[in-house]
Order: sequence, then C-alpha cells, then structure tokens
Amino acid sequence: MSVEGKKRVITTQRVLEMKHKGQKIAMLTAYDYTSAKILDEAGIDIILVGDSAANVMAGHQTTLPITLNQMIYHAQSVVRAVSNPLVVVDMPFGTYQGNSKLAVSSAIQIMKETEADAVKVEGGAEVMESVHRILSTGIPVMGHLGLTPQSIHKFGTYSVRAKGDEEANKLIADALALEKAGCFAIVLEKIPAALGAKVSSQLKIPVIGIGAGNGVDGQVLVMHDMLGLNNDFSPRFLRRYKNLHKEYLSAFSSYIEDVRSGDFPNESEQY
Ligand code: KIV
Repeated sequence: MSVEGKKRVITTQRVLEMKHKGQKIAMLTAYDYTSAKILDEAGIDIILVGDSAANVMAGHQTTLPITLNQMIYHAQSVVRAVSNPLVVVDMPFGTYQGNSKLAVSSAIQIMKETEADAVKVEGGAEVMESVHRILSTGIPVMGHLGLTPQSIHKFGTYSVRAKGDEEANKLIADALALEKAGCFAIVLEKIPAALGAKVSSQLKIPVIGIGAGNGVDGQVLVMHDMLGLNNDFSPRFLRRYKNLHKEYLSAFSSYIEDVRSGDFPNESEQY
C-alpha cells in the first residue's frame, strides 16, 4: 500500500510468477520522491531503497553509517511517489545482525512508518535467526548474498566473491536456506556468472543479480551509477545509460555564467 492507501500493482507473488513465466525482473535503487516517480512512470518492477544511500546520497565511504531513521525517511519519500512497483527497503547495518528481537522490531518499524512492501537483509546462515523471526511476523524478506557491503570490514575488499569452491558452496547453501526460510527473492552481488546461473536454476524464488551475470532472473543497479552521475565508480558489471555528470556540470556551469553575466532572468522570466 502507498501512503495514500492505494495498493501497488507488483506484489511479492507477482515477482515469483515472473520467474516462473521466464519474465526478467527489472530493479533499480531510489531514495527520493522525484526519481521514484520517474521510475514508476518508466515501468520498473521493483524499487530498492538501498543502504547505498549512505554512499550516493550522503557521501560515506561504506554503507555502515546510515541509520534506521534515515532509511525510513528515504523509503517514505519513495513510497509516496509510486503506484506500480514493489518497494523493498534495506535494513541498515546494526538493526538485525546478531539480535533477532531487534531485527523484528526494526523490520516492523520500517513497515509501519514507510508502508513499503518488504525488507532486505545481507547474509546467510549468520542472520538466519533474524530472517526467520522477521518472516514469522508476515513481513516479506529479500536476501542478499555474494558481495555484502555491510560486511566490508570482514572481507577487506569489494572484489568478486565466491570464486573458489568453498565460498561458492556456502553461497549455494545459504541461498537454499534463505528460500527454505521463506524469502521471496535473493540479490546476488558480484559473483561469477556461472555461479549466478547455477543458484537461479536451483531456486524457485527469483534471483536478482548485480554483477552476477545474465543467467539470473533479473538485474539491479544503483540508479546514480547507471545514470553516470558518479564517474569515479566503474566496475565491470556497470552499464552507464547516461552521462548525467556531464549534463549536470554543463547545466550548472551555464546557470552560473548566466547569473554572473546578468543574462538570467531575462524579460520573459520576471513579473
Ligand atoms: O544498497 C544497495 O543499493 C544494494 C544493491 C547494490 C543491491 O543493496
């Protein structure tokens, strides 16, 4: 339901159906009303209010600093804008790991205050107790395996994950366990394409990839990255659909020049 109380068209059941019908799922991040409204108009299936907001909205080096209240603020802005896509909200670092009671109260707070459709958590076996407890309240959960940015200090790098057999086998076991627990979908980040395809073929629930190849059931990118707003981030998996950094720079420079030269506002732009 949106804040206005209208039911959104894409549900968790609909994304399951999409996998079974072989329809690819398109997901992007959004953190604000205006972008979410345009994404809705474009026909996106799922909007992820990602904790990547910590990076692209707030300028932090990692996703760890973003708070529950900040995520709720972003999610409220997105939910207010959309009538079609499923809205999934990242549970921020420290609100669900190692404490399943806290996990339930964080997930309930997100759902109550934002009217989003689902939450996303990073990790497998380590967070399974929290996943079970959140699911027991009726809140849909999306998993996230592979590169899990909230664990960056454990891994030390943002390099490709699960290249070796041991890590790949753990990832497959975690994916199966998340499905068994009742998750409605899983994000796989930055893993070999063959492993992405293998996990997708073993699961009945959709697998959404970001740097997980083309053999999965859908794709997700961070909106700012695919729009080319931050040119200093260039992983192999990123396709830039625009160079908005260039466009913004040109528009801002022209405005500054016009103000300084007295060209703006002209006759038709004043009362
Ligand atoms: O926070 C985020 O944007 C994400 C995506 C990278 C999947 O988790």
